[in-house]
Amino acid sequence: MDMELTDEQRAARQTAREFAEKEIIPVARENDEQEKFPAEIVKNMASLGFLGAPIPERYGGAGMDYISYALVTEEIGRACSSVRTVLSVTTSLVALTILTWGTEEQKMKYLPKLCSGEIIGCFGLTEPDAGSDAANLSTSAKKGGSSWILNGNKMWISNGSVAKLAIIFAQTDKKLKHKGIAAFLVDTDTPGFSAQPIKGKLGLKSSDTSSLTLEDVKVGDNALLGNVGDGFKVAMSGLDNGRYSVAAGCVGICQGSVDASAKYAQERTAFGRPIAGFQLVQELIADMVLDTEAARLLVFQAGHLKNKGVRNTRETALAKLYASEAALRCSNRAIQVFGGYGYSNEYPVERYMRDARVASLYEGTSQILKLIIGRYATGIGAFT
Ligand code: CAA
Repeated sequence: MDMELTDEQRAARQTAREFAEKEIIPVARENDEQEKFPAEIVKNMASLGFLGAPIPERYGGAGMDYISYALVTEEIGRACSSVRTVLSVTTSLVALTILTWGTEEQKMKYLPKLCSGEIIGCFGLTEPDAGSDAANLSTSAKKGGSSWILNGNKMWISNGSVAKLAIIFAQTDKKLKHKGIAAFLVDTDTPGFSAQPIKGKLGLKSSDTSSLTLEDVKVGDNALLGNVGDGFKVAMSGLDNGRYSVAAGCVGICQGSVDASAKYAQERTAFGRPIAGFQLVQELIADMVLDTEAARLLVFQAGHLKNKGVRNTRETALAKLYASEAALRCSNRAIQVFGGYGYSNEYPVERYMRDARVASLYEGTSQILKLIIGRYATGIGAFT
């Protein structure tokens, strides 16, 4: 693995840093307070190519390698995890899943629109009674002639109320368990499809999280993503991409915590000198630096495999597990460095901590990721 960034990778990071500093950071606090979806930012992010970062140019993407994509995602995550969530879901969970499993017609129909920000996507896997146990879906898909009728409920769906395109996972034959699941590309304007925003979240307040209801939603055979029975693999491979992007965004929270803490510690004085001079403050900051760099290296390890096109479930699980837990540790330490000021939204560190908390829940809890890693290490699955 080459540790030296290429000129293209540096340029991608620099462009994302400048965009984040100019357009996201100045409004992140207000958007969080007002729970305002950052529609304008998402559009501008798309015009820079970020929404289609790893998608090939022939489908409207920027054709970036996965390390560049991670660096872009890190910079957006350092600025605001709500914006980063829109990016991660649309790009990783939706666009990359269509790129992997879609027909040429589906790719041509949806990818340019997703990359340009004309439409936003969501990933309808989780249900009120099926989170970690993703194969146990109640949403049903019944075949009638050349169409399908979808019925069911989805829960905790990022972008659910703002998406124009939803990937909906549904069971076609309960007896077949995970081998009966199918994935469908559903236009959210289809009659019978509705979304209900979920309020009262701890963090990610300016992103949209919704429940979805599907009541006799009718789609054609051409909405199938992959074949009937492929749905579980579509979901799992999609999560390999989604988890990577969450991990990279969490590195951004870690780095943001280091940057904010180091600056504050140099400016703030106590006992007649900058608090940065105190060993216990340096320890807090050194621990953050260590977590940040370890998390970033794990992301690069997974990205390196993605660039080679080889299966990376284990490495992505390692990166997401470590980075999401590290983001929580780093933001918590940053609040400690800031003292009382860290507890108010005058500074970004309290938002970092609230936003970091969900990252060890969504797209695979830390416990599920440990069981995936444990299965690779022992050869024995805890799920069966
Ligand atoms: N890529 C491709 N195929 C894969 C795969 C992957 N990463 N992982 C598994 N598969 C395939 C396997 O090869 C196997 O294929 P066969 O049937 O042909 O043998 C099949 O899928 C079943 O695999 P497993 O036996 O590994 O499945 P499992 O039942 O043991 O998996 C689990 C259990 C790992 C816990 C899995 O259910 C899981 O990851 N759960 C967590 C789900 C999750 O992260 N949900 C969050 C969704 S995010 C969301 O919906 C909201 C949002 O907007 C963010």
